[in-house]
Amino acid sequence: MTSMRPAVRLPALGVGTWAWGDTAYWGPGAAAGAGVVDAFVASLAAGVRLFDTAEVYGHGASEKSVGVLGERSGEALVLATKFAPLRGRGGARALRPALKASLARLRVPRVDLYQVHWADFEEASIDDLMGAMADVVAEDLVAGVGVSNFSAHELRAAHAALARRGIALTSNQVRYNALHRDPERDGVRDACLELGVTLLAYGPLEQGILAGTYAPGAVLAGRRAQAAWFTDDALRAAQPLVALLRDLAAERGVPMEQVALNWLRAKPGVVPLPGARSGAQAARNAGALAWTLDAEAAARIDRWGRG
Ligand SMILES: NC(=O)c1ccc[n+]([C@@H]2O[C@H](COP(=O)([O-])OP(=O)(O)OC[C@H]3O[C@@H](n4cnc5c(N)ncnc54)[C@H](OP(=O)(O)O)[C@@H]3O)[C@@H](O)[C@H]2O)c1
Repeated sequence: MTSMRPAVRLPALGVGTWAWGDTAYWGPGAAAGAGVVDAFVASLAAGVRLFDTAEVYGHGASEKSVGVLGERSGEALVLATKFAPLRGRGGARALRPALKASLARLRVPRVDLYQVHWADFEEASIDDLMGAMADVVAEDLVAGVGVSNFSAHELRAAHAALARRGIALTSNQVRYNALHRDPERDGVRDACLELGVTLLAYGPLEQGILAGTYAPGAVLAGRRAQAAWFTDDALRAAQPLVALLRDLAAERGVPMEQVALNWLRAKPGVVPLPGARSGAQAARNAGALAWTLDAEAAARIDRWGRG
């Protein structure tokens, strides 16, 4: 019997780079510019090397930014990108050419983590997708396999399909933050723990709300302004949690976004992927690695979600 190829061990914190290429959602100024370069440099300076991108972010622009910056830095990065099995692309067959195009934009011969971006199985079954993933692992184009937005049931199916090809699934990337607790209720977090799959938490700052930037009446550029969590009602409902994070941060003399990130880091097997649009944001986010949240403070945030 052949041995199982283990899951890739991921760093404790990453950087999300959706806003590094997508101006439609994040507004003008989001694509590669001084803020992006500074965010990249500050992340590396603070020892954060995991960068999460996707072929769809700005139609390849985010991957290109990461590729140019990575090559220029000469540093070894931990690169994660994603394949979107969009309708009409040809299903799992489209995975390898999509990966080759991502590798070209990222300027690397292989990625550390390749993820199925969404669970849309009309054209590609989980078995076929995991089969295509196993093929590109065998070709040494990919080190670890991940999924994203998979339910607990889909995650178990992907884990089993990949295990049949002798590979342990590395991660499931889902929206998870102190305000948005679905993974705690829908079985995803428990399934990740049980299977040894890292839960990559996207939107860990609820797109800036948990950094305290946005209150009712906030004016935002791009489609982010239309997101359900940026309505005045949603922003109003978020303010008690924002106040709690702010209080906990003041008691500890740290920025409140670090409290939000360290609440996630305190959960076993959870790795937050905060987006950063400036050097200052990236440095403050990376500062979360310098300390841990005590159990009592974590429990106060936990209780808020159940109240
Ligand atoms: N798999 C998926 O389907 C999926 C979906 C969404 C995201 N993702 C991934 O997850 C990553 C993170 O998610 P996200 O970018 O949507 O949300 P996020 O990380 O919760 O929020 C990022 C935004 O918050 C603000 N911010 C970040 N750090 C800050 C700080 N220290 N102080 C103040 N504001 C700060 C910035 O926006 P402003 O400065 O404009 O306020 C930044 O663009 C993405 O980049 C992407 O890689 C994946």
